[in-house]
Parts: sequence; structure tokens; C-alpha cells
Amino acid sequence: MALQSVERKVALITGANKGIGLEIARQLGRQGMTVLVGARDAGRGREAAEGLRSEGISAHCTRIDVTTQATIDQVARWIEEEFGRLDILVNNAGIFIDDAPPSGLDMEVLRRMYETNVFGPVAVIKAMLPLLRKSSAGRIVNMSSGLGSLTLTSDPGWRFADINLLAYNSSKTTLNAMTVQFAKELGNTAIKVNAADPGYTATDLNNHQGTQSVEQGARAAVHLATLSADGSTGGFFHQDGALPW
Ligand SMILES: NC(=O)c1ccc[n+]([C@@H]2O[C@H](COP(=O)([O-])OP(=O)(O)OC[C@H]3O[C@@H](n4cnc5c(N)ncnc54)[C@H](OP(=O)(O)O)[C@@H]3O)[C@@H](O)[C@H]2O)c1
Repeated sequence: MALQSVERKVALITGANKGIGLEIARQLGRQGMTVLVGARDAGRGREAAEGLRSEGISAHCTRIDVTTQATIDQVARWIEEEFGRLDILVNNAGIFIDDAPPSGLDMEVLRRMYETNVFGPVAVIKAMLPLLRKSSAGRIVNMSSGLGSLTLTSDPGWRFADINLLAYNSSKTTLNAMTVQFAKELGNTAIKVNAADPGYTATDLNNHQGTQSVEQGARAAVHLATLSADGSTGGFFHQDGALPW
């Protein structure tokens, strides 16, 4: 227990060096938690953690590339040694690249998007589960998107119904499916697993075209990360409530 007292909750957020992930780390940190700023680039992670510490937050950077198993395993070992457990995991890291409607999709884009948005969160959850099981109230939040909702995207009246991009949308649908599966498997434990839709948020991911601030975009994930014992599991939520799958 080198880095903190046992009373403080410990939260790992992947892709936390910028955008919504950084803001989730900030909001959890302001609640008195120790936040582990996951970043695939050590320099960017260090800078983000330093920024949070200058705001009075207990923050440490940790290099984690969710597409590289060795970095995931290394982070799990480090958390075990330093903290002995993990209370919150936010699978926030995600990419949106060169997507296209189904018939025009480059297979390599599909593979890359799934590597980060689907295989990454599965690998991180599997590696962190032994640590989350040691928490009295483990919480897993998967950063999904309304674009992953089959109900919303198949409704022609939905605001974003025209965004028919195969790789990104289906990667988030798959993330939703695995959220349900992990929640079912962990239903008899203290761990809750939910998916969050941040809403259309101005970040690098969409060249800052999003209409919400990162403060708003972080809300759903922060709420799910801090659910009480009677909170839901196996659900999909945005900042105003439940979303359909
Ligand atoms: N913004 C929106 O409107 C919106 C809407 C719905 C859902 N989302 C979801 O919200 C999450 C955060 O998105 P954002 O808008 O904040 O995007 P962002 O500003 O582009 O941030 C994405 C973060 O993920 C990291 N990342 C990418 N690939 C990674 C990898 N292989 N390993 C570890 N980290 C990796 C990035 O690191 P680098 O800095 O090194 O690139 C960055 O820190 C994503 O899952 C996204 O799909 C966003």
C-alpha cells in the first residue's frame, strides 16, 4: 500500500489523458478517490495526472494500451502491489476512424476499431476482475454510444439515425452485449457492470463538433461508477436515465 490509505476508493480510467476520460477522472477525483489515469502514451498520461494533481486530486498516471495485453497485465500487477484492489474500472478508451456505410467499409478499419473498442475492454475487464472482486463495491462502466443502440439506430425518427457507420456503431453494440454478459456472470457478486452513453460531446474524436461539454459527457459514467449497493447492473444509461439496447 505504498501510494494511498485503504479508505480512498481507487478508480482506473482508460484513455484518461484527454476528452471525456480526463473529465471522468477529474469528477471522480473531486469525490475524494484516487484516480489512475490510464494513457497509451506515458508522456500524455503524466501531463494529465500532473494537471489533476495541481487541482488537488490524488492522481497517478499509468501506461495502458488496451490493444496490448502486456501493458494491461503490467497495470494489473502494479495496482495489486500499490493498492491491493480496484474499486472502479471505466473502460473509456475508444476510437472512431475512417468509418463508412456497410458496403464501403475497409476490413482493416473494422479490425482496428474492434481491437480498441471491443477486444480492449474485454481484455481489461478480465485482467482487472481479480482486483475488482477484492473491492466491497466494484463498479465497471463501459463507455458505449447511442450509436450502439439497435433500437435507436433503427428508428428513422432518431436524431442520429442517418449515421449508419458499420464499424463504430457495431463495436458499441457488441460492447453493450458484453456488458449484459459480464453483469449476468457477476450478478451474485458486489460488482455492477453498466454501459454509458456520454451523448454528443465536443472532443478530438469528433473534431469538437459535439454539442455537449465534457462535463456533461462525463456525467453518466460518473453516476454509474458511484452507484450505491441497490443500484442497477446490466443496464445502458445516459445522463437523463435508461436507454434501450
Ligand atoms: N465524444 C462523443 O461524442 C462520444 C459519443 C459517444 C461515445 N463516446 C465514447 O466515449 C469515449 C471517450 O471518447 P472521447 O470523445 O473522449 O474521445 P477522445 O478525446 O478521442 O479520447 C479518446 C481516448 O482514448 C484513448 N485511446 C485510444 N486508443 C487507445 C488504446 N489503444 N489504448 C488506450 N487508450 C486509447 C486516447 O488516447 P490518445 O490521446 O493516445 O489518442 C484518448 O485518451 C470513447 O469510448 C468514445 O467512443 C464519445
